[in-house]
Amino acid sequence: MTHNITLIPGDGIGPEVTNSAKSVIEASGVKVNWDIVEAGAAVIDKYGTPLPESVLESIKKNKVALKGPVTTPVGSGFRSINVALRKKLNLYANIRPVKTYKGVPSRYEDVNLIIVRENTEDLYAGIEHMVSSDIAESIKVISKKASTRIVEFAFDLAKKQNREKVTAVHKANIMKLSDGLFLKCARDVAKNNKDINFEDVIVDAMSMKLVLNPKDFDVLVMPNLYGDILSDMAAGLVGGLGFLPGANIGKDAAVFEPAHGSAPDIAGEGKANPTAAILTAALMLKYIGEIEAANKIEKAIEKVLEDKKCVTGDLGGKASTLEFTEAVIREM
Ligand code: NAI
Repeated sequence: MTHNITLIPGDGIGPEVTNSAKSVIEASGVKVNWDIVEAGAAVIDKYGTPLPESVLESIKKNKVALKGPVTTPVGSGFRSINVALRKKLNLYANIRPVKTYKGVPSRYEDVNLIIVRENTEDLYAGIEHMVSSDIAESIKVISKKASTRIVEFAFDLAKKQNREKVTAVHKANIMKLSDGLFLKCARDVAKNNKDINFEDVIVDAMSMKLVLNPKDFDVLVMPNLYGDILSDMAAGLVGGLGFLPGANIGKDAAVFEPAHGSAPDIAGEGKANPTAAILTAALMLKYIGEIEAANKIEKAIEKVLEDKKCVTGDLGGKASTLEFTEAVIREM
């Protein structure tokens, strides 16, 4: 079977790392018809927007996209392309697997958790106003529909991956109505999924527990803001953003992207570490049902990182993006 997938190379190191991911997917034996489309700061002059309509059309048609990081223009009036993509395609679940790899410096071993972040509401609904010249207000929106949907997603994911526990993160002791509703929805969903363990933890305690013993956690599900903060914190547990894949998933489309940014400081120099982009490719392959190829890619990455013989500068090695990619392909 040939899969139709939209490829958005993005800005900065985006084209380099997505090209690595594309080569690794092709070497894994999975057949893909790539629809390569342009988005990002670099195409504003060409299209008058960083997110041309043709990009959205391509994703709507193919339903799956692999995306490189894009530079968010500062102060030019454009909103984040990533936020726009999530909103326009209703990509309600943000997924970030957080895992330690031998060879990647980290204070912990054997961390293997997934953060499931609600992507559409909470304080990110963008409802803000000035009450007076000295007082600003942001409105936190939590709905039963979005909360139930994201917790159900977390339980489904836990089942698919044979995981044991879902932890709902909240601050319902203080925000009794908004986070209280999220927690009630989580408990209701948990009642229908008794085969998976369930617990809830208040976000501040969660931050401490994650740092003290990240191995205690499996699938974490939470509203938007806590997810934004804890997913970057969790990245710090396993060596930083450079090793984390990511996905934004909705009912009708999914956009897969590494967690790191466009790294303009090293763009075009062949120095970028493509690990996160390649792991993102593996995550995408799992989503489209190519489990065997995805596992093969993950094992090859693990081996190359552990070996340390052919790693990029950020890991103290001398390999270029291309050399690292070739090492992963050889290992497969
Ligand atoms: P960044 O992640 O691009 O870079 C931070 C540091 O990490 C830099 O020193 C960079 O060289 C290094 N780095 C990042 N990825 C690397 C890789 N794969 N290999 C080796 N080194 C790597 O974050 P920064 O500088 O805050 O953002 C740069 C631009 O990227 C901004 O315009 C930001 O808005 C955008 N961005 C886009 C994202 C996306 O499209 N998903 C996510 C995060 C940032």
